[in-house]
Amino acid sequence: MNLHAQQPIRVPGAEDGSSLPILEAESVERTYRMGRVAVQVLKGASISVRPGEWVAILGSSGSGKSTLLHLLGGLDRPDAGAVRFRGSSVSQFSSGALDRFRNEHVGFVFQFYHLLPELNVLENTMLPATVGVGRLEWSARKQEIRERARALLDRFGLSHRVRHRPAELSGGERQRVAIARALMRRPEVLLADEPTGNLDAKTGGSILDMIAEQHRNGLSVVMVTHDQWIASRADRVVHLVDGRVADRGDDHAPHPA
Ligand SMILES: Nc1ncnc2c1ncn2[C@@H]1O[C@H](COP(=O)(O)OP(=O)(O)O)[C@@H](O)[C@H]1O
Ligand SMILES: [Mg+2]
Repeated sequence: MNLHAQQPIRVPGAEDGSSLPILEAESVERTYRMGRVAVQVLKGASISVRPGEWVAILGSSGSGKSTLLHLLGGLDRPDAGAVRFRGSSVSQFSSGALDRFRNEHVGFVFQFYHLLPELNVLENTMLPATVGVGRLEWSARKQEIRERARALLDRFGLSHRVRHRPAELSGGERQRVAIARALMRRPEVLLADEPTGNLDAKTGGSILDMIAEQHRNGLSVVMVTHDQWIASRADRVVHLVDGRVADRGDDHAPHPA
């Protein structure tokens, strides 16, 4: 038997040159209820992110961008529709698998940083790597975890800040810490919610440069923003309008009378 016979190698989904999306939402719906008032924010929103892609979701304030990002990251569940990570339905994950998905496979960056005020920069950065780690494992891995955090902080120009608390840092520095923390577990996807929304243009630009560098290294990025210029840094821009995702912002515009 000729073991070297030319057999076509079949890669699922590769027939047309594409590959399985790393993260996707299919027709997701989400309604918030406050007392007797129900507001449907997402009305069948779909988005598909290819491995290594940087997608920006552009939408006005209140259009449901954060809601969609939380669904994509498993922080919230859709009322209908599906979220899939590498083809597996996130809503069917066991609670352990869901924790692992949120802690290891995705990294979150928020507009207001969400650092813990009582922890210093190094401790904030290491935090995701300490979640669910028992005492024995912690003693065995402490050194490695600390070195990873220090290397990230060094890379982001924060080595002189490791012992400082968030309150002692500028907004730009806080967001750099938040990105270091998000990258701590080497996620495959970074989910960024208006990551420059609280920063001046120059500082925001440097944060986008950092995200761009990680993207060049292979990280997939989903970033939501209300700012067209910021969105234009991504490979692809989609629009969240009327609870749905469109390639163009004017698809749902009313027809002229
Ligand atoms: N937990 C919640 N409870 C009730 N309403 C909410 C909640 N979160 C968001 N909303 C409402 O849903 C809409 C979309 O919110 P959000 O996803 O935060 O939009 P965006 O991020 O685009 O500004 C807004 O009208 C907001 O007030
Ligand atoms: Mg928001």
